[in-house]
Amino acid sequence: MSITVTFIDPHGKPIEARGAAGDCLLRLGQAAGLPLEGTCEGQMACSTCHVIVAPEWFARLPAACEEEEDMLDFAAGVRRTSRLSCQITLTPELDGLVVSVPAESTDVRRM
Ligand code: FES
Repeated sequence: MSITVTFIDPHGKPIEARGAAGDCLLRLGQAAGLPLEGTCEGQMACSTCHVIVAPEWFARLPAACEEEEDMLDFAAGVRRTSRLSCQITLTPELDGLVVSVPAESTDVRRM
């Protein structure tokens, strides 16, 4: 079963991407051409994979761990529904997920 995710790019344009259960949201977004750097490759050390989850989807995601919360404190333009896309694994329940990619990102390692 394919899982459809809609990424809203920094200009507000929706970009639909299809993945499979077990895929990483960061990789799916990168493959769809979104400007998600993901420079630490999922090690929770950069925050350049920051996305803002649509409010109606936020509670359906598994909660962020403490390390992710700490890293989000450094992300540019962080919101209440912010997450690190490298920490989100697609499941069938996430079919239809909508996330926005902020215009700016912060690489914590360059701070
Ligand atoms: S890729 Fe660096 S924190 Fe997600």
